[in-house]
Amino acid sequence: MEEAVPDQAPGRPHRVGARKIEFAELNGTPEHAPRRLSGITEFDRVAGGGLVRGSVILIGGDPGIGKSTLLLQVMCRLAGGARCAYISGEEAIDQVRMRAQRLGTAAAPVQLAAATNVTDIINTLDSAQGPDFCVIDSIQTMYLDALDSAPGTVGQVRASAQELIRLAKRRGTVMLLVGHVTKEGAIAGPRVLEHMVDTVMYFEGERGHQFRILRAVKNRFGPTDEIGVFEMTDRGLSEVPNPSALFLAERRGNVSGAAVFAGIEGTRPVLVEIQALVSPSPLGTPRRAVVGWDSARLAMVLAVLEARCGVSVGPNDVYLNVAGGLRIAEPAADLAVAAALISSLTGVPVPADAVLFGEIGLSGEVRAVSQTDLRLKEAAKLGFSSALMPRRPGRSKGEDSIRMLEFAEVGDLLPLFRDKQAKPVGRG
Ligand SMILES: Nc1ncnc2c1ncn2[C@@H]1O[C@H](COP(=O)(O)OP(=O)(O)O)[C@@H](O)[C@H]1O
Ligand SMILES: [Mg+2]
Repeated sequence: MEEAVPDQAPGRPHRVGARKIEFAELNGTPEHAPRRLSGITEFDRVAGGGLVRGSVILIGGDPGIGKSTLLLQVMCRLAGGARCAYISGEEAIDQVRMRAQRLGTAAAPVQLAAATNVTDIINTLDSAQGPDFCVIDSIQTMYLDALDSAPGTVGQVRASAQELIRLAKRRGTVMLLVGHVTKEGAIAGPRVLEHMVDTVMYFEGERGHQFRILRAVKNRFGPTDEIGVFEMTDRGLSEVPNPSALFLAERRGNVSGAAVFAGIEGTRPVLVEIQALVSPSPLGTPRRAVVGWDSARLAMVLAVLEARCGVSVGPNDVYLNVAGGLRIAEPAADLAVAAALISSLTGVPVPADAVLFGEIGLSGEVRAVSQTDLRLKEAAKLGFSSALMPRRPGRSKGEDSIRMLEFAEVGDLLPLFRDKQAKPVGRG
């Protein structure tokens, strides 16, 4: 019983009830997604320049890092011009009120609820008077009746998020989902949520430090390498418009083993101090401990120093730390790491007025990195007078504010640490 389908190639199965999709020209006028600024610049930048209508944002981070605080502050700021709701599944209404009072934002017209049943929540949000912005704190506490599994299980988290995302798309609500990070570092079960949502942000910080860094790791509406820097105070999170000054605040002059790296985070230059300590190891196998950088990258820099420059770390422990709790992913930090290591080994400080940047290749060459001008400008702004950096063939004129010392090989750094009297390793 063959049915004749006129415009279908012979031999292809015909699907009953299927319609044809419509194609559009690539070259059309895109409809610009309207964005809303919260006025918290550090947050808006990470969001890609404001929050897009109907988008769903997942904010992950360790418990206690400040996710609830941040989102309550964002909601209170947005509430001036839009309907905002804050639904807590973790804290009682009074707890959230007390936080708002501490933050000094209790007067903001944010609608507050303590609820965990997703069906009830969607039923409430899905009305003409429903909110434009809604925080769900946290997605791990939410559950759907229809599922047997407990809240926080992968099935519940995924199904709850799916329902909330569907509502966001249908109504144009901006949904901000809080997600706790598990021990393995993934948000609620093998990263199930990350590809469902439009934007994923992580809120990070070192315990014992006041700095908090908001980082976009995925964004359908903006770049992903932007960071927002905050400081946790008893009045909540305050913005840090000039992170370099903050990261360098505790810097001590003229100590060996420290080098200032001129880095770029997203569109913004950030200066941080890289600290290295090379000390005799009491263990048979020396330790390599890294905080804030990639340990494989450290191993590479150590190997290049040894093989290409004759700088041997020998049986010493090596510790490397990015001061202030920032995590750096840029290979441009190589040169600063190498200088900090050589400085610790020789006991001779890196020139205190210098910043460093440049990638190191396996043959010991110092390779060019992007955004040189931006790095130099920031260094000059913070009072540095020289930059140890890769060679630049076509240099632009007019950066006289900073002295540029160009290096072709990492080994060319060595004379800097030679002229003064060297101390033996371990007491530098
Ligand atoms: N009374 C307080 N005074 C100062 N800081 C506080 C106070 N209460 C909480 N905090 C800070 O807020 C943090 C908790 O933030 P919170 O937003 O609840 O984190 P999360 O939602 O990520 O678990 C605490 O770790 C602490 O640093
Ligand atoms: Mg919380």
